[in-house]
Amino acid sequence: MENALNRAEGVKKPQERRSLGSTGILVTPLCYGCASAFARDLISDDKAYALFKAAYDLGIRFFDTSVHYGKAEDRIGASLKKYNIDRNEIVISTKAGKKLVNGKWVQDINPARIKENVDMSLKRMNIEYIDVLYLHEPTVKDLTEDVFLCFDELKKAGKIRACGANTFSDDVIDHIIQTKCLDVVMLDYNIVKQNREPQIKALYEKGIGVVAGQALAESCFLWDLYQIHGKKDLWYLARTFGRKASRELYFRSRKFRFMNRLENLDGSQAALKYVLDNPYVAGASVGTVSFEHLQKNVDALNIRIPDDVRDRIKKAGKQ
Ligand SMILES: NC(=O)c1ccc[n+]([C@@H]2O[C@H](COP(=O)([O-])OP(=O)(O)OC[C@H]3O[C@@H](n4cnc5c(N)ncnc54)[C@H](OP(=O)(O)O)[C@@H]3O)[C@@H](O)[C@H]2O)c1
Repeated sequence: MENALNRAEGVKKPQERRSLGSTGILVTPLCYGCASAFARDLISDDKAYALFKAAYDLGIRFFDTSVHYGKAEDRIGASLKKYNIDRNEIVISTKAGKKLVNGKWVQDINPARIKENVDMSLKRMNIEYIDVLYLHEPTVKDLTEDVFLCFDELKKAGKIRACGANTFSDDVIDHIIQTKCLDVVMLDYNIVKQNREPQIKALYEKGIGVVAGQALAESCFLWDLYQIHGKKDLWYLARTFGRKASRELYFRSRKFRFMNRLENLDGSQAALKYVLDNPYVAGASVGTVSFEHLQKNVDALNIRIPDDVRDRIKKAGKQ
C-alpha cells in the first residue's frame, strides 16, 4: 500500500515501474494497446513496426494484444525481430478463449482452446513465454476449476507467468474480488467510467493487478473524434456509433466535453493522467497509431492535473 500511495504523488518518467498485483511482474504505467487500428490494414506493416519501436524508444515496456486482434501479434513479433528488442525487457499481455469460425473469432473458453490460443500467440510473436494471459470477456460460469488447472499447467510449462481476465462485467469483477481466482484484471477504466474505482481498490487490496483498458474512453469525449483525415479516423467514428458498448460510452462522455476547452492543459493528457494517478492502477492501456499522440501520452506522465480540473472531472463522473 505504501508504494501505491507514494506513486500517487506523481509519475516522474515513463521508465517508472509499478507492481502488477502480487505477480512479481513490474510494468511501465503506460501500456501500448495493440488492438484497434494497430491490428488492422488501416495502417501498413511498416507503420505498425515503427509505432512499436517509437513506443519502446519512449520508454514504454508494456504491450497488450490478443489472439483475436487481427495482425497485432504478427506485427509485434516482426517488430521485436526487426529492431532486435530483447523480449525479456518488455512485458507482453495477450488474451485467449477464442476460436475462428468462418473467418470470425467467437467465444470458446475451455482448457483445450486456451492452450491452442497460447501456442498460436507464442508462435506468431516468436516468443517463449507470455507475461500475462487474460481470458477475453469470460462469464462467471467460464471461471471453472478446469480453467484454473489449465492456467497452472501453462505456468508450470513456463508458457505464461500470470493469468487474468479482460472483463468489463460488474459480476465477473466482483466474482474475482471475492474468490481471488486470478492474478490480474484488465477492465474498462477512464474518466467516463469512474464508477469502477471501488472495484479497482478492492482488487488491489486483494493483491490482484489492475490494468485500465480503454484508458482514453476510445476518445469519445474529444473533438478529435470528428477530425476525419483518413481511413482510420473514419473507422474510429464508425466504431463509436456502430458498437452498443461504444455508443453507451459516447453518450456518457458528453458530460466531459469541457475537457476540450481546458486552459493550458490538453484534455487527452489530463484524462490519461487521471487514470494514471489512481494509486491502485498498475498500467493504463492506450491505443494510438499517431506518433504525435503517442508522444503526448508519454508526456502525460509528467503533467499535474490542477485541483479545480480534477474536481470538475470528479463532479462530471458523479452526475
Ligand atoms: N476498446 C475496447 O473495447 C477494449 C477492449 C478490451 C481491451 N482494450 C484494451 O485497451 C486498449 C486501448 O483501447 P482502445 O484503443 O480501443 O481505446 P482508447 O485507448 O481508450 O482510445 C483510443 C483512441 O484514442 C485516440 N488517441 C490516443 N491518444 C490520443 C491523444 N493523445 N489525443 C487524442 N486522441 C488520442 C486514438 O486515435 P489515434 O490513433 O488517432 O491516436 C483512438 O481513437 C486496447 O488496445 C486494449 O489493450 C480495449
